[in-house]
Amino acid sequence: GKGGHAHYMHKEIFEQPAVVGATLHSMINPATRRIDLGRYGFDAAGLETVTILACGTSFHAGMVAKYWLESIAGLPVHCEIASEFRYRRPPLGRGALVIAISQSGETADTLAAMRYAKSRGARTVAVVNVAESTIAREADAVLPTLAGAEIGVASTKAFTTQLVVLACLAIAFGRARGELDCKAERALVAALADTPDLITEALAGDAHAGGVAALLAGARDVLYLGRGTAYPLALEGALKLKEVSYVHAEGYAAGEMKHGPIALVDKEVPIVMIAPPDELFEKTASNMYEVMARGGQAILISDREQTDRFANGVAASIAMPEAPAISTPILYSVPMQLLAYHAGTRRGTEVDQPRNLAKSVTVE
Ligand code: F6R
Repeated sequence: GKGGHAHYMHKEIFEQPAVVGATLHSMINPATRRIDLGRYGFDAAGLETVTILACGTSFHAGMVAKYWLESIAGLPVHCEIASEFRYRRPPLGRGALVIAISQSGETADTLAAMRYAKSRGARTVAVVNVAESTIAREADAVLPTLAGAEIGVASTKAFTTQLVVLACLAIAFGRARGELDCKAERALVAALADTPDLITEALAGDAHAGGVAALLAGARDVLYLGRGTAYPLALEGALKLKEVSYVHAEGYAAGEMKHGPIALVDKEVPIVMIAPPDELFEKTASNMYEVMARGGQAILISDREQTDRFANGVAASIAMPEAPAISTPILYSVPMQLLAYHAGTRRGTEVDQPRNLAKSVTVE
Protein backbone atom coordinates (compact mmCIF):
# COMPACT_ATOMS: atom_id res chain seq x y z
CA GLY A 1 0.00 0.00 0.00
CA LYS A 2 0.87 3.66 0.06
CA GLY A 3 1.51 3.74 3.79
CA GLY A 4 -0.65 6.78 4.45
CA HIS A 5 0.66 8.74 1.46
CA ALA A 6 -1.70 9.93 -1.26
CA HIS A 7 0.54 8.54 -4.01
CA TYR A 8 3.36 6.06 -4.44
CA MET A 9 5.56 8.88 -5.70
CA HIS A 10 5.19 10.72 -2.41
CA LYS A 11 5.76 7.54 -0.39
CA GLU A 12 8.88 6.75 -2.38
CA ILE A 13 10.26 10.27 -1.96
CA PHE A 14 9.86 9.82 1.78
CA GLU A 15 11.56 6.41 1.74
CA GLN A 16 14.81 8.01 0.69
CA PRO A 17 16.44 8.42 4.11
CA ALA A 18 16.03 4.66 4.63
CA VAL A 19 16.98 3.43 1.17
CA VAL A 20 19.86 5.86 0.73
CA GLY A 21 21.12 4.68 4.13
CA ALA A 22 20.74 1.01 3.22
CA THR A 23 22.52 1.47 -0.11
CA LEU A 24 25.32 3.38 1.56
CA HIS A 25 25.79 0.74 4.23
CA SER A 26 26.02 -1.97 1.61
CA MET A 27 29.08 -0.20 0.20
CA ILE A 28 30.89 0.72 3.44
CA ASN A 29 33.00 -1.68 5.45
CA PRO A 30 31.86 -0.92 9.02
CA ALA A 31 35.21 -1.89 10.55
CA THR A 32 37.40 0.32 8.36
CA ARG A 33 34.78 3.00 7.50
CA ARG A 34 36.00 2.71 3.92
CA ILE A 35 34.28 1.76 0.68
CA ASP A 36 34.39 -1.98 0.06
CA LEU A 37 33.31 -3.21 -3.36
CA GLY A 38 35.26 -6.48 -3.09
CA ARG A 39 32.16 -8.59 -2.63
CA TYR A 40 30.73 -7.28 -5.90
CA GLY A 41 33.55 -8.89 -7.85
CA PHE A 42 34.94 -5.58 -8.80
CA ASP A 43 38.45 -4.52 -9.59
CA ALA A 44 39.77 -1.21 -10.89
CA ALA A 45 43.14 -2.50 -12.10
CA GLY A 46 44.19 -1.26 -15.54
CA LEU A 47 41.31 1.13 -15.81
CA GLU A 48 41.94 4.01 -18.24
CA THR A 49 38.58 5.47 -19.14
CA VAL A 50 34.96 5.21 -18.09
CA THR A 51 31.93 5.33 -20.37
CA ILE A 52 28.57 5.69 -18.68
CA LEU A 53 25.47 4.54 -20.59
CA ALA A 54 21.90 5.18 -19.53
CA CYS A 55 18.57 6.78 -20.45
CA GLY A 56 16.34 9.40 -18.82
CA THR A 57 16.74 9.92 -15.11
CA SER A 58 19.44 7.25 -14.94
CA PHE A 59 21.38 9.26 -17.52
CA HIS A 60 21.20 12.28 -15.22
CA ALA A 61 22.67 10.18 -12.40
CA GLY A 62 25.46 9.30 -14.82
CA MET A 63 26.09 12.98 -15.54
CA VAL A 64 26.56 13.66 -11.83
CA ALA A 65 28.89 10.65 -11.64
CA LYS A 66 31.03 12.12 -14.42
CA TYR A 67 31.88 15.10 -12.18
CA TRP A 68 32.72 12.77 -9.30
CA LEU A 69 34.79 10.26 -11.29
CA GLU A 70 36.80 13.08 -12.83
CA SER A 71 37.37 15.09 -9.67
CA ILE A 72 37.72 12.27 -7.11
CA ALA A 73 39.27 9.48 -9.19
CA GLY A 74 41.00 11.48 -11.94
CA LEU A 75 39.39 9.33 -14.62
CA PRO A 76 38.35 10.57 -18.07
CA VAL A 77 34.61 9.94 -18.39
CA HIS A 78 32.16 9.91 -21.26
CA CYS A 79 28.52 9.95 -20.30
CA GLU A 80 26.26 8.95 -23.14
CA ILE A 81 22.59 8.55 -23.87
CA ALA A 82 22.36 4.83 -24.65
CA SER A 83 20.11 5.29 -27.69
CA GLU A 84 22.74 7.52 -29.33
CA PHE A 85 25.78 5.56 -28.27
CA ARG A 86 24.52 2.24 -29.60
CA TYR A 87 24.30 3.45 -33.19
CA ARG A 88 27.55 5.38 -33.33
CA ARG A 89 29.82 2.33 -33.12
CA PRO A 90 32.32 4.21 -30.91
CA PRO A 91 35.75 2.63 -30.33
CA LEU A 92 36.30 1.07 -26.88
CA GLY A 93 39.56 -0.47 -25.73
CA ARG A 94 40.34 -3.01 -23.04
CA GLY A 95 41.14 -0.20 -20.60
CA ALA A 96 37.57 1.02 -20.87
CA LEU A 97 35.03 0.38 -18.17
CA VAL A 98 31.40 0.74 -19.18
CA ILE A 99 28.92 1.58 -16.43
CA ALA A 100 25.32 0.84 -17.42
CA ILE A 101 22.84 2.56 -15.11
CA SER A 102 19.24 1.35 -15.08
CA GLN A 103 16.55 1.17 -12.43
CA SER A 104 14.63 -1.59 -14.22
CA GLY A 105 17.63 -3.32 -15.74
CA GLU A 106 15.48 -3.89 -18.84
CA THR A 107 15.76 -0.65 -20.83
CA ALA A 108 16.24 -1.81 -24.42
CA ASP A 109 18.68 0.90 -25.48
CA THR A 110 20.84 0.60 -22.38
CA LEU A 111 20.98 -3.18 -22.77
CA ALA A 112 21.90 -2.92 -26.45
CA ALA A 113 24.57 -0.30 -25.73
CA MET A 114 26.06 -2.51 -23.00
CA ARG A 115 26.05 -5.55 -25.29
CA TYR A 116 27.87 -3.56 -27.94
CA ALA A 117 30.48 -2.46 -25.35
CA LYS A 118 31.00 -6.07 -24.29
CA SER A 119 31.41 -7.17 -27.88
CA ARG A 120 34.24 -4.64 -28.20
CA GLY A 121 36.03 -6.09 -25.18
CA ALA A 122 35.13 -3.42 -22.61
CA ARG A 123 34.50 -4.46 -19.02
CA THR A 124 30.95 -3.76 -17.89
CA VAL A 125 29.41 -2.99 -14.54
CA ALA A 126 25.69 -2.51 -14.04
CA VAL A 127 24.15 -0.17 -11.48
CA VAL A 128 20.65 -1.62 -11.27
CA ASN A 129 17.72 -1.67 -8.89
CA VAL A 130 16.16 -4.92 -10.13
CA ALA A 131 18.69 -7.59 -9.27
CA GLU A 132 17.15 -10.30 -11.50
CA SER A 133 17.11 -8.12 -14.60
CA THR A 134 18.67 -8.74 -18.00
CA ILE A 135 21.23 -5.94 -17.63
CA ALA A 136 22.26 -7.31 -14.21
CA ARG A 137 22.60 -10.82 -15.65
CA GLU A 138 24.71 -9.81 -18.62
CA ALA A 139 27.08 -7.35 -16.94
CA ASP A 140 30.48 -8.52 -15.70
CA ALA A 141 29.72 -7.08 -12.25
CA VAL A 142 26.64 -5.64 -10.58
CA LEU A 143 26.43 -2.83 -8.04
CA PRO A 144 22.88 -2.95 -6.72
CA THR A 145 20.88 0.06 -5.62
CA LEU A 146 18.78 -0.95 -2.62
CA ALA A 147 15.83 1.33 -3.35
CA GLY A 148 13.30 -1.50 -3.13
CA ALA A 149 10.50 -1.75 -5.68
CA GLU A 150 9.80 1.61 -7.29
CA ILE A 151 6.15 1.81 -8.31
CA GLY A 152 5.74 5.46 -9.25
CA VAL A 153 6.60 5.77 -12.94
CA ALA A 154 8.71 8.87 -12.29
CA SER A 155 11.98 7.72 -10.78
CA THR A 156 12.81 9.23 -7.37
CA LYS A 157 14.43 6.91 -4.84
CA ALA A 158 16.06 4.90 -7.61
CA PHE A 159 17.83 8.09 -8.73
CA THR A 160 19.21 9.04 -5.31
CA THR A 161 20.35 5.48 -4.60
CA GLN A 162 22.08 5.44 -8.00
CA LEU A 163 23.90 8.60 -6.91
CA VAL A 164 25.00 6.88 -3.69
CA VAL A 165 26.43 3.88 -5.54
CA LEU A 166 28.18 6.11 -8.06
CA ALA A 167 29.70 8.32 -5.35
CA CYS A 168 31.03 5.19 -3.63
CA LEU A 169 32.40 3.92 -6.93
CA ALA A 170 34.22 7.22 -7.49
CA ILE A 171 35.73 6.97 -4.00
CA ALA A 172 36.79 3.35 -4.55
CA PHE A 173 38.43 4.25 -7.86
CA GLY A 174 40.06 7.28 -6.30
CA ARG A 175 41.70 5.05 -3.74
CA ALA A 176 42.66 2.34 -6.23
CA ARG A 177 44.30 4.96 -8.46
CA GLY A 178 46.17 6.68 -5.65
CA GLU A 179 44.15 9.88 -5.95
CA LEU A 180 42.74 9.60 -2.42
CA ASP A 181 44.62 8.70 0.72
CA CYS A 182 43.01 6.87 3.59
CA LYS A 183 42.20 10.04 5.48
CA ALA A 184 40.58 11.74 2.49
CA GLU A 185 38.55 8.61 1.80
CA ARG A 186 37.30 8.40 5.38
CA ALA A 187 36.30 12.09 5.24
CA LEU A 188 34.23 11.49 2.10
CA VAL A 189 32.64 8.37 3.60
CA ALA A 190 31.80 10.26 6.80
CA ALA A 191 30.25 13.05 4.73
CA LEU A 192 28.14 10.55 2.79
CA ALA A 193 27.06 8.85 6.00
CA ASP A 194 25.28 12.05 7.08
CA THR A 195 23.16 12.12 3.90
CA PRO A 196 20.13 10.18 5.19
CA ASP A 197 19.68 12.65 8.07
CA LEU A 198 20.08 15.61 5.72
CA ILE A 199 17.41 14.13 3.43
CA THR A 200 15.09 13.84 6.43
CA GLU A 201 15.68 17.53 7.12
CA ALA A 202 14.97 18.42 3.50
CA LEU A 203 11.75 16.39 3.58
CA ALA A 204 10.54 18.56 6.45
CA GLY A 205 10.15 21.23 3.74
CA ASP A 206 7.44 19.21 1.98
CA ALA A 207 4.56 21.56 2.79
CA HIS A 208 6.63 24.61 1.87
CA ALA A 209 7.62 23.00 -1.44
CA GLY A 210 3.92 22.40 -2.04
CA GLY A 211 3.33 26.15 -1.79
CA VAL A 212 6.25 27.00 -4.08
CA ALA A 213 4.95 24.43 -6.59
CA ALA A 214 1.91 26.67 -7.15
CA LEU A 215 4.21 28.98 -9.13
CA LEU A 216 5.17 26.10 -11.40
CA ALA A 217 1.71 24.58 -11.69
CA GLY A 218 0.39 27.84 -13.14
CA ALA A 219 3.22 28.36 -15.64
CA ARG A 220 3.37 27.53 -19.32
CA ASP A 221 7.16 27.13 -19.32
CA VAL A 222 9.71 26.71 -16.55
CA LEU A 223 13.50 26.95 -16.73
CA TYR A 224 15.84 25.10 -14.37
CA LEU A 225 19.43 26.33 -14.14
CA GLY A 226 22.45 24.89 -12.35
CA ARG A 227 26.23 24.70 -12.56
CA GLY A 228 28.57 21.82 -11.78
CA THR A 229 26.67 18.85 -10.37
CA ALA A 230 23.62 21.13 -10.10
CA TYR A 231 23.49 21.15 -13.91
CA PRO A 232 22.40 17.50 -14.21
CA LEU A 233 20.00 18.23 -11.35
CA ALA A 234 18.51 21.04 -13.44
CA LEU A 235 17.94 18.54 -16.25
CA GLU A 236 16.42 16.09 -13.80
CA GLY A 237 14.19 18.71 -12.17
CA ALA A 238 12.87 19.75 -15.58
CA LEU A 239 12.30 16.14 -16.66
CA LYS A 240 10.44 15.36 -13.45
CA LEU A 241 8.20 18.42 -13.81
CA LYS A 242 7.38 17.60 -17.44
CA GLU A 243 6.60 14.00 -16.62
CA VAL A 244 4.29 14.40 -13.68
CA SER A 245 2.70 17.84 -14.23
CA TYR A 246 2.85 18.16 -18.07
CA VAL A 247 4.20 21.71 -17.63
CA HIS A 248 6.87 22.38 -20.22
CA ALA A 249 10.27 22.72 -18.55
CA GLU A 250 13.89 22.82 -19.71
CA GLY A 251 17.09 22.42 -17.76
CA TYR A 252 20.19 24.37 -18.77
CA ALA A 253 23.72 24.83 -17.57
CA ALA A 254 23.52 28.24 -15.89
CA GLY A 255 26.41 29.51 -18.00
CA GLU A 256 24.48 28.73 -21.18
CA MET A 257 21.65 31.07 -20.26
CA LYS A 258 22.99 34.07 -22.11
CA HIS A 259 23.58 31.89 -25.18
CA GLY A 260 19.88 31.53 -25.84
CA PRO A 261 17.41 30.71 -23.10
CA ILE A 262 17.55 34.23 -21.63
CA ALA A 263 15.34 35.25 -24.56
CA LEU A 264 12.52 33.35 -22.85
CA VAL A 265 12.77 35.30 -19.61
CA ASP A 266 9.81 37.47 -18.73
CA LYS A 267 7.54 37.72 -15.72
CA GLU A 268 5.59 34.65 -16.82
CA VAL A 269 8.51 32.21 -16.73
CA PRO A 270 9.56 30.83 -13.33
CA ILE A 271 13.27 30.03 -13.18
CA VAL A 272 14.39 27.45 -10.67
CA MET A 273 17.98 28.21 -9.64
CA ILE A 274 19.68 25.17 -8.12
CA ALA A 275 22.51 26.89 -6.33
CA PRO A 276 24.15 25.08 -3.44
CA PRO A 277 26.54 27.38 -1.54
CA ASP A 278 29.72 26.08 -3.14
CA GLU A 279 32.57 27.77 -5.02
CA LEU A 280 30.29 28.20 -8.03
CA PHE A 281 27.52 29.95 -6.11
CA GLU A 282 28.40 33.55 -6.99
CA LYS A 283 28.48 32.69 -10.69
CA THR A 284 25.03 31.19 -10.54
CA ALA A 285 23.85 34.12 -8.41
CA SER A 286 24.95 36.51 -11.15
CA ASN A 287 22.82 34.53 -13.63
CA MET A 288 19.97 34.92 -11.18
CA TYR A 289 20.48 38.71 -11.10
CA GLU A 290 20.24 38.73 -14.89
CA VAL A 291 16.96 36.84 -14.65
CA MET A 292 15.54 39.17 -12.02
CA ALA A 293 16.67 42.28 -13.91
CA ARG A 294 14.45 41.10 -16.78
CA GLY A 295 11.44 40.61 -14.54
CA GLY A 296 11.94 36.83 -14.27
CA GLN A 297 10.48 34.93 -11.35
CA ALA A 298 13.50 33.33 -9.66
CA ILE A 299 12.98 30.41 -7.31
CA LEU A 300 16.21 29.99 -5.36
CA ILE A 301 17.24 26.67 -3.86
CA SER A 302 20.27 27.13 -1.62
CA ASP A 303 21.19 27.18 2.05
CA ARG A 304 19.49 29.43 4.60
CA GLU A 305 22.22 32.09 4.46
CA GLN A 306 21.79 32.58 0.70
CA THR A 307 18.00 32.34 0.66
CA ASP A 308 17.92 35.03 3.38
CA ARG A 309 20.37 37.17 1.43
CA PHE A 310 18.18 37.11 -1.70
CA ALA A 311 14.81 37.07 0.08
CA ASN A 312 13.79 40.44 -1.35
CA GLY A 313 14.59 39.76 -4.99
CA VAL A 314 13.29 36.25 -5.57
CA ALA A 315 9.73 35.05 -6.14
CA ALA A 316 10.26 32.13 -3.74
CA SER A 317 13.04 30.12 -2.19
CA ILE A 318 13.69 26.76 -0.60
CA ALA A 319 16.29 26.72 2.19
CA MET A 320 18.29 23.51 2.30
CA PRO A 321 20.36 22.14 5.19
CA GLU A 322 24.08 22.79 5.02
CA ALA A 323 25.74 19.78 3.46
CA PRO A 324 29.16 18.54 2.42
CA ALA A 325 29.84 18.86 -1.32
CA ILE A 326 29.62 15.15 -2.04
CA SER A 327 26.10 14.81 -0.65
CA THR A 328 24.76 17.97 -2.27
CA PRO A 329 23.50 16.37 -5.51
CA ILE A 330 21.70 13.67 -3.50
CA LEU A 331 20.19 16.18 -1.11
CA TYR A 332 19.15 18.74 -3.74
CA SER A 333 17.28 16.02 -5.66
CA VAL A 334 14.64 16.16 -2.94
CA PRO A 335 13.23 19.63 -3.73
CA MET A 336 13.26 18.74 -7.47
CA GLN A 337 11.04 15.76 -6.67
CA LEU A 338 8.74 17.62 -4.27
CA LEU A 339 8.21 20.53 -6.67
CA ALA A 340 7.27 18.16 -9.50
CA TYR A 341 5.04 16.06 -7.28
CA HIS A 342 3.10 19.01 -5.90
CA ALA A 343 2.85 20.75 -9.27
CA GLY A 344 1.36 17.51 -10.63
CA THR A 345 -1.15 17.02 -7.84
CA ARG A 346 -2.16 20.70 -8.06
CA ARG A 347 -2.89 20.20 -11.74
CA GLY A 348 -4.71 16.95 -11.05
CA THR A 349 -2.48 14.71 -13.14
CA GLU A 350 -2.00 11.01 -12.51
CA VAL A 351 1.37 11.50 -10.84
CA ASP A 352 2.01 7.79 -10.29
CA GLN A 353 1.08 6.87 -13.84
CA PRO A 354 1.58 9.85 -16.17
CA ARG A 355 0.02 9.57 -19.61
CA ASN A 356 2.10 7.91 -22.34
CA LEU A 357 4.85 6.74 -19.97
CA ALA A 358 5.87 3.20 -19.04
CA LYS A 359 7.92 2.13 -16.06
CA SER A 360 10.11 -0.13 -18.12
CA VAL A 361 11.00 0.86 -21.69
CA THR A 362 11.73 -2.48 -23.34
CA VAL A 363 11.32 -1.27 -26.90
CA GLU A 364 13.58 1.31 -28.48
C1 F6R B 1 12.07 9.36 -15.39
C2 F6R B 1 12.18 7.95 -15.68
C3 F6R B 1 12.79 7.52 -16.97
C4 F6R B 1 13.79 6.39 -16.71
C5 F6R B 1 14.34 5.84 -18.02
C6 F6R B 1 15.40 4.79 -17.79
O1 F6R B 1 11.45 9.59 -14.16
O2 F6R B 1 11.79 7.14 -14.87
O3 F6R B 1 13.41 8.60 -17.61
O4 F6R B 1 14.81 6.89 -15.90
O5 F6R B 1 13.28 5.29 -18.77
O6 F6R B 1 14.87 3.70 -17.09
P1 F6R B 1 15.82 2.68 -16.37
O7 F6R B 1 16.54 3.39 -15.28
O8 F6R B 1 14.90 1.60 -15.85
O9 F6R B 1 16.78 2.14 -17.39
